[in-house]
Amino acid sequence: MSKYTIRGGNKIEGRLAIRGAKNSILPIIAATILNESVSTIHNVPDISDVYVMIKILESIGCKVKYEDGTLVVDSSNISSMEIDEHYVRKMRSSIIVMGAMIGRLDYTKISHPGGCAIGSRPIDLHLNALKELGVRIEEDDGFIKCFKDKLVGSTINFEFPSVGATENTMLAAVKAKGTTKIYNAAREPEIEDLQDFLNSMGAKVRGAGTNYIEIEGVETLHEVEHTVIPDRIAIGTYMVASAMTGGCLEVDRVIIPHMEPISDKLRAAGCNIEYKGNGLVMTPPKIIQAIDLVRTSPHPGFPTDMQAQLMSLMALSNGTSVFHETIFENRFMHCAELTRLGANIKYITENICMIKGVANLHNAKVKSPDLRGGAALILAALTINGETEVSNIYHVERGYENIEQTLRSLGAEILKIENLEKVKGC
Ligand code: EPZ
Repeated sequence: MSKYTIRGGNKIEGRLAIRGAKNSILPIIAATILNESVSTIHNVPDISDVYVMIKILESIGCKVKYEDGTLVVDSSNISSMEIDEHYVRKMRSSIIVMGAMIGRLDYTKISHPGGCAIGSRPIDLHLNALKELGVRIEEDDGFIKCFKDKLVGSTINFEFPSVGATENTMLAAVKAKGTTKIYNAAREPEIEDLQDFLNSMGAKVRGAGTNYIEIEGVETLHEVEHTVIPDRIAIGTYMVASAMTGGCLEVDRVIIPHMEPISDKLRAAGCNIEYKGNGLVMTPPKIIQAIDLVRTSPHPGFPTDMQAQLMSLMALSNGTSVFHETIFENRFMHCAELTRLGANIKYITENICMIKGVANLHNAKVKSPDLRGGAALILAALTINGETEVSNIYHVERGYENIEQTLRSLGAEILKIENLEKVKGC
């Protein structure tokens, strides 16, 4: 397995521009299935999840070209109605393809995504919404078969503002007969970006960004060109890297309302954040202030995808912080690894923990438990004198484009060790 070795102690500082959001490009790639034509998408991040989605599209007959951040998809011809189990197992968010497939075809079959490291991640809300739209669903042997007996606009009231269920419903409803009304929809910025993409191809979606979304079905969609929004979570991760190491960071191309839930917490930790033009400038805290309570919640609350990174920052604060993870039931696996680096963390319950800041962390060998947990360990390692080893970095590369080069360009001493055999060979 590849790993990073990191010699910490340098300030992480300078100027940064981050490409498109992972959690925006994945549903947008799925949406390219709907227009039976060409989609040109710019600002596409070079991350492994994007390659999995490209493989899925190619496996059903789409022609795909990805070069220098631009993805061109031609979905004129679809040759298969079934999504290969291999891809769904590799990346559970590929379940998002289901809504687009049934929006376009009379039938589709996809493997059940199952859970992942951070939780059981059921898809009941996705399936119930498709059933509301008239799709007949059969589940057996770990597969989901969707039959489009009819696809008619309907009223959907989500028990929980699930991001994925909202997106899957939007993808299916754009070509339904009549109007679909979604109540208690997710409000994440990535939902707004999906709406913009769909409307640019001729759909009629309104209300994304609020908890009420209305979709008026259309017969046909057309060619489209779109630029993906910047990745607020990747930007937030680098801001924490600078805050932890005492560096100043300038970030080009940010969308202020997308960043505010993250900036708000970093200000509470003592950072100064100014938005200038369409960028931001962050100056680090003189002393990292403890934040009494960090509770994750759906947007515009504090994002669960920043919880682990903020916990790394609080590991070096001047007091005690309590973290309450409300979105996923198993998203504290980085705690044990941070403790190996010298953090002082105590569990209160399985999704509430208390972290008492320490003066310094110390080096050790740690394993990335998942995407954001891995990022948090890298951030902690940047503050540690001596060499820290972070392994299982395939998790991190799913969601961060060239994190090694980016951190090095900001002053980090970080090296990727592909695997020992190869290194010896070179
Ligand atoms: C999206 O996951 C993101 N992934 C996640 O980012 C993010 O953490 C999450 O939204 C919350 O913001 C992508 O966009 C690809 P949910 P998603 O449906 O859609 C429960 C990262 O690190 N639920 O809003 O799967 C579910 O179990 C990743 O980039 C049901 O119970 O999230 C969870 O507890 C991790 N039934 C909660 O809702 C359902 O049918 C939130 O899930 C659907 C969800």
